[in-house]
Amino acid sequence: MQENKTFTIKNRNIFCADNIDILKNIESNFVDLIYLDPPFNKNKTFHAKEGSASDGLYFNDSWNIKLDKNSFNIINKEHADINNFLKFVENIYDNKASNYLYYMSIRLIELHRVLKPNGSIYLHCDNTMSHYLKILMDIIFGTSNFRNEIIWHYAHGGRGKKNFAKKHDIIFWYSKDKNNYIFNYDDILVPFESKMTEWSYTKGSYAGKVMPKGKVPEDVWKIIFNTMSKEHIGYPTQKPTSLLERIIKASSNENDIILDPFCGSGTSIIVAEKLKRRWIGIDLSSKVYDLITDRFIKEYDENASDSIINDIFYSNLP
Ligand SMILES: C[S@@+](CC[C@H](N)C(=O)[O-])C[C@H]1O[C@@H](n2cnc3c(N)ncnc32)[C@H](O)[C@@H]1O
Repeated sequence: MQENKTFTIKNRNIFCADNIDILKNIESNFVDLIYLDPPFNKNKTFHAKEGSASDGLYFNDSWNIKLDKNSFNIINKEHADINNFLKFVENIYDNKASNYLYYMSIRLIELHRVLKPNGSIYLHCDNTMSHYLKILMDIIFGTSNFRNEIIWHYAHGGRGKKNFAKKHDIIFWYSKDKNNYIFNYDDILVPFESKMTEWSYTKGSYAGKVMPKGKVPEDVWKIIFNTMSKEHIGYPTQKPTSLLERIIKASSNENDIILDPFCGSGTSIIVAEKLKRRWIGIDLSSKVYDLITDRFIKEYDENASDSIINDIFYSNLP
């Protein structure tokens, strides 16, 4: 592949490739919203559930091996602040953590570049690396562009007897600009705890004014994902569509371009399509294309899915 040559991306693109090779070729200021759910540095390989629609799919999340020299050189030569930070991590933690963070750094730098000036990025992680990823994001996106640390509180998975059950992930939301960004609070209202429905004041200076139908959600989101539900197709670390629905509704508008550079089973792009956004998904595994098109077939009736599927552009190279 040629380097430094941007190409025009169409809507409904699934790239089965290393995302860094695709990102480098996307023009700057192109994407409205990025959601990424990368490996978390769990030091294991994740396998899909046997007998499920995803059977046979897996991804590796261990970082014993040093990255390609090129990535190190980029950070060493061009990003002294990141390099200093990663040397510090290597000293206090281990080189698996710093290998992982070098890998993330070069991708986050590209993601910052391709994001539109009023765009947002949501980085999904857990407490294995969240504290270090937050610092990386502060360096690359700027501390003043940090918007929220969202806690996704779930219930699935096992519970041990030696700790409080670990049942949350962390999602960092950054905008590219601290003032100019999309937040469609009206589209994501949730009911008041009191179960109040729409009502209006009868007395005082607010008399006659209708109260909002709900409240803006807090930054702790309890979203239960039933892993036995139809929606769960057995993909390891698959996320629920309701989680992505809130993110995409809040931080993008119809026709906007959504990019998921670690798209796995395609949760974000299924939701993007449903909400009439344009989308680009990238994943290392060439098998996700079939998995995702299958999800589209199940999601839409025959005619609609036919036209969407015919439009989906598959590539393992730009
Ligand atoms: C945590 S999973 C994403 C799950 C997804 N959010 C879902 O709901 O199904 C991480 C994904 O990143 C992919 N991946 C890992 N390294 C990658 C890379 N360098 N480029 C593209 N995809 C990568 C893996 O194949 C895996 O599918």
